[in-house]
Amino acid sequence: MLLKAARICLFLAAGAGSLLAKEPLQIRESTFIGAVGCKSSSCHGGAGPKRSQYITWSQHDYHTKAFPVLLNARSARIAEGLGITEAQTSARCTVCHSPLQSVAASRLAATARPDEGVSCESCHGAAGGWLRGHTRTDWTYNIRVSAGMRDLRSLYVRANACVACHQNVPADVLKAGHPELFFELDGQSMAEPKHWRDDEEAWSGLREWLTGQAVALREISWALVNEPGDDLANARWNGVAWLCATAASANGAWPQMSPPPGAPGISDFTQAQKEADALARKAAMSNWSESVARTLLSRLASTDAEFAAKGTANPVLAQRAKRLVLALDRLTNALNPNRGGPRKIDAELNQLFADVKTPDAFDPSAFTAHLQTFGAALESR
Ligand code: HEC
Ligand code: HEC
Ligand code: HEC
Repeated sequence: MLLKAARICLFLAAGAGSLLAKEPLQIRESTFIGAVGCKSSSCHGGAGPKRSQYITWSQHDYHTKAFPVLLNARSARIAEGLGITEAQTSARCTVCHSPLQSVAASRLAATARPDEGVSCESCHGAAGGWLRGHTRTDWTYNIRVSAGMRDLRSLYVRANACVACHQNVPADVLKAGHPELFFELDGQSMAEPKHWRDDEEAWSGLREWLTGQAVALREISWALVNEPGDDLANARWNGVAWLCATAASANGAWPQMSPPPGAPGISDFTQAQKEADALARKAAMSNWSESVARTLLSRLASTDAEFAAKGTANPVLAQRAKRLVLALDRLTNALNPNRGGPRKIDAELNQLFADVKTPDAFDPSAFTAHLQTFGAALESR
């Protein structure tokens, strides 16, 4: 039965475009097939949770809008600022917004559409090498992965896949008006209309959060090694480096991180790159329990004195606070017995979110006071 379904999928994958009417398909390993190749109702375009991934993606996922965004007025303004004629055909934009557009024509099957946005293979890898085999009953998950399917079950691999588009934007693109990106794997995975079932274990979100923060630090550090940043870029680096170092210090089983120095240089960024990668690998397989989560939460909630102390520049404190508040949010979310529902400290947390919303208007003394209120509320409830 399964083998039969596999055949139908291949047939439709080939028939969907004008690719080929007869077997064998001329598909090379690194070829992108396009989302339409996954769409058949007996494959990933069917009803029911097991076969509905294409429906979820095509109808609900933000990633299908990533290409049309390039046609809007904001994109036109950004493109103009950069001297690009058209955002929708410039690799400077399509690398993230519609990656198939930047792939050499020789690696695209006739079914692959350059305007399909962020599609299946942007995350799962080019399907040429595994499209045929991946539905065979004798293929284990590991065989699929060795045939080139990206191992997204590994949180380290997954974080690397998402962060490639969700953290670093070149400075000139930012200056031209692109929104700043801020990677946080747990919250952004929750925001995705997920077409997969993750480990139901209560702590998998925290594993994702820590892996994501470490990977974000590695990527920001990488960018600063390659191109010196302005004050804001350095402050953003400092924010996530501080968060990772503070979090790691709460758990002896995690690799320890150097706290960010006041005036960092290339060697600090290089070192942060290495340390962050080590933390990410460990975090992806980290053991969590209620006590691990609570210890970390109290460690992070008791950083109020660091925001009150003089001597750290305001933009740096603002970036630290922003990363910190997201961390408090993910931790209290995971510890909430009332899964997904209101939390007892929601009011205090909302105040902290309001404090970090506009980094330019960040007020360290108000934030310190609100963080103390949050800490006291944690203990009393
Ligand atoms: C590094 C990957 C990357 C590159 C390069 C990139 N973008 Fe984006 N862009 C994103 C991501 C991710 C978002 C979503 C941000 C969010 O909502 O958190 C986004 C959001 C946007 C938005 C706002 C979308 C909305 O819904 O309001 C516009 C407009 C945009 N990008 C245009 C461009 C243009 C034009 C270029 C080329 C000059 C470009 N982007 C290059 C990743 C990228
Ligand atoms: C933004 C990235 C992204 C895109 C785009 C994407 N996926 Fe996924 N997909 C994931 C992640 C992450 C997982 C979870 C890891 C896993 O189970 O392999 C996943 C899991 C899956 C699974 C396994 C489901 C389960 O519960 O075991 C299937 C099947 C799948 N995706 C098919 C598709 C298809 C078909 C498309 C295009 C229509 C698609 N994906 C687009 C990221 C993506
Ligand atoms: C090839 C680049 C690319 C990859 C890989 C990618 N994204 Fe995106 N993502 C984008 C772009 C571009 C947008 C903006 C789309 C828009 O504005 O409509 C976006 C939007 C989003 C959004 C909605 C905006 C927001 O920030 O809340 C979420 C959530 C999201 N992505 C999560 C993920 C997750 C989780 C992964 C990894 C499993 C991932 N993305 C992988 C490019 C990518």
